[in-house]
Amino acid sequence: MNQKVTIVGAGNVGSTAAQRLAEKELADVVLIDIIEGVPQGKSLDLAQAAPIEKHDTHLTGANAYEDTANSDIVIITAGIPRKPGMSRGDLLATNKRIIKNVTKQVVQYSPNAILIIVSNPLDAMCHVAMEESCFPKHRVIGMAGVLDSARFRAFIAMELNVSVENIHALVLGGHGDTMVPLPRFSTVAGIPITELISSERIEAMATRTRNGGLEIVSLLKTGSAYYAPASAAVEMAESILKDKKKILPCAAYLEGEYGISGLFVGVPVKLGKNGIEQIISLELTADEKKALHRSAEAVQELVNAMKKMA
Ligand code: APR
Repeated sequence: MNQKVTIVGAGNVGSTAAQRLAEKELADVVLIDIIEGVPQGKSLDLAQAAPIEKHDTHLTGANAYEDTANSDIVIITAGIPRKPGMSRGDLLATNKRIIKNVTKQVVQYSPNAILIIVSNPLDAMCHVAMEESCFPKHRVIGMAGVLDSARFRAFIAMELNVSVENIHALVLGGHGDTMVPLPRFSTVAGIPITELISSERIEAMATRTRNGGLEIVSLLKTGSAYYAPASAAVEMAESILKDKKKILPCAAYLEGEYGISGLFVGVPVKLGKNGIEQIISLELTADEKKALHRSAEAVQELVNAMKKMA
């Protein structure tokens, strides 16, 4: 295959993303982890599934960054996931150290790559990756909005008993309790959900979306969600690899858009071969704007807390 994607972290999210990328034959895949044997074992296992799944994707497992050289995209999933009772913010110190270290090694071998950050707390980890890589803002993108919107879409489909394919939804803001589901921009076959579902039910679904990650952490007990996060990261990678120019909600570094500056916040962006090719600015109502700014403040607090750490 012509293109190459490295996934850092061969845990639940990383290996599931590798599987999806491989089965879609989007690019050669390198899976890298700090634990010896795990990325090699998982890559070999995936390669042995290939004859049955009918793909010819080349998969490599590695512990050294030489193998990741010249990747077009690097998806960073390394770090620790949440356990019950933990907020994403509780991961801050550990994952900051990991993302800093990983990014340094990634950019040494793939100076032109586009980084898709998945590790939590997501928006803060985007700051770490951008600072450490010194990459331009269009090449550091956070995966959160696609996942949060997919959760909202799934709940809307369940509510109306219709195909998920009919549903578009938009969730903006940081990847935390303050995220902003936007019913006004969420539709079923083009019909705004506000025309089809009561405001009480919409609010209930928006709340369930905000707590979507927590609901799964509470059920799993030993880790956090990974099927949907992996799917979301791969949808972003696909839009970039195929230069599809999809509009997807992603964490992007804002410089004045939505009245926010110097911060990664989830907004709709166009993803193509250059990474973020456009930030879509929506005209928000006063309430929506207030909610987005509250969410940006929560991200800012995490970034400030991180700055105080060694
Ligand atoms: N370099 C490479 N890999 C690392 C490093 C490092 N410095 N530190 C940890 N890892 C690896 C771990 O060895 C593990 O295999 O990252 C992997 C993380 O996998 P899981 O523990 O299964 O976590 P996962 O569910 O995949 O979540 C990863 O994504 O959604 C977020 O909040 C989640 O921050 C978490 C991340």
